[in-house]
Amino acid sequence: MDARRDGQRGSLEAPIRALITGITGQDGAYLSELLLSKGYEVHGIVRRSSSFNTGRIDGFRHRLQLHYGDMTDASSILHIVEKAEPDEIYNLAAQSHVAVSFETPEYTANADALGTLRLLEAMRTLKSKARFYQASTSELFGNQPPPQNERTPFSPRSPYGAAKLYAYWVVCNYREAYGIYACNGILFNHESPIRGENFVTRKVCRAVARNEPVRLGNLNAVRDWGHARDYVEGMWLMLQQENPEDYVLATGEGHSVRQLVEEAFAYVGRTVSAEFDQRQVRPLEVDCLIGDATKAREKLGWRPKYTFKQLVAEIMESELDSARKAGLIR
Ligand code: NAP
Ligand code: GDD
Repeated sequence: MDARRDGQRGSLEAPIRALITGITGQDGAYLSELLLSKGYEVHGIVRRSSSFNTGRIDGFRHRLQLHYGDMTDASSILHIVEKAEPDEIYNLAAQSHVAVSFETPEYTANADALGTLRLLEAMRTLKSKARFYQASTSELFGNQPPPQNERTPFSPRSPYGAAKLYAYWVVCNYREAYGIYACNGILFNHESPIRGENFVTRKVCRAVARNEPVRLGNLNAVRDWGHARDYVEGMWLMLQQENPEDYVLATGEGHSVRQLVEEAFAYVGRTVSAEFDQRQVRPLEVDCLIGDATKAREKLGWRPKYTFKQLVAEIMESELDSARKAGLIR
């Protein structure tokens, strides 16, 4: 094991250094907060954008070390790993929207599949001893019957899932070939008030809170929705074990999109109403994802704390608050 980890873990002289790709995303923001609370020095990769993209981390940005880079740009990745000298790398950066991956399949493969390879190659080139977390996904399972766990065969049903499948395997290959401490976290859907607005939980809660029409595609899809705060704790735990392994994180409970809509309307005491929007229907759908996180529970001691009801309530409260501030409701 790395001497820094053994001898000086968390000491003031040498805080553990983490590098987070995708630090401006939902999980990046929660993970940064978690690692800062544990005394880490947190570095993050931010990509250049024509408008500000750091809204989720602005509250504690002064405590972060941010670097411009992009998963599609190998030299930027190499230089950042060289400069940050991380002890832990969390690869969260991705074009993460499944429907969008059908519109931008090549870019999705470049960022999500080759981006992961670039990062691993940077580690190999620099002989980095960092521990590596890969943001793998339940989308890998496609339509395999639930409950899905680490032994369920993969059969992705989107360019996003296929790109993440490449990343999953290249992480396993580098672990075995080069002895890198690398883990795949196979995470089921996790949400929060800072979820991207075009994912279904936030989209539904936002429209219901603002009294706007709820326009959706497939209402029958079932997902295992947890809270991102719980899931970033699991990411961290994976990198604190003796040996690197792959783990499923999930609540074990499935709900349909229809039930999500009903829960959001029930929260404000209104009658359910949703319109069908053909544009939201995907060329291929994943019907039912419900995870079995027994391994994470037994080996990591990981358990989600939030229930589905609490998750929806927290997103609804946040959306109602922002609707009030915007003068859309009283
Ligand atoms: P997210 O909110 O969409 O965040 C994605 C992050 O990646 C953002 O910081 C984004 O930057 C960055 N990014 C995208 N393309 C990039 C590029 N080419 N170079 C550098 N950065 C890039 O996603 P999330 O929900 O936090 O998810 C984090 C990771 O977990 C993703 O890899 C996702 O695929 C995976 N995952 C998520 C879930 C889930 O339910 N949330 C479940 C399983 C796996 P901008 O802010 O500039 O867009
Ligand atoms: N986004 C969206 N918008 N989804 C809709 C809509 C809509 O208007 N109407 C129905 N849905 C259905 C989708 O077809 C899908 O079955 C389900 O709602 C959930 O969609 P998303 O919230 O977009 O999430 P996802 O399951 O496709 O993907 C998320 O979870 C994966 C893990 O399973 C993303 O976070 C991925 O990055 C992640 O890997």
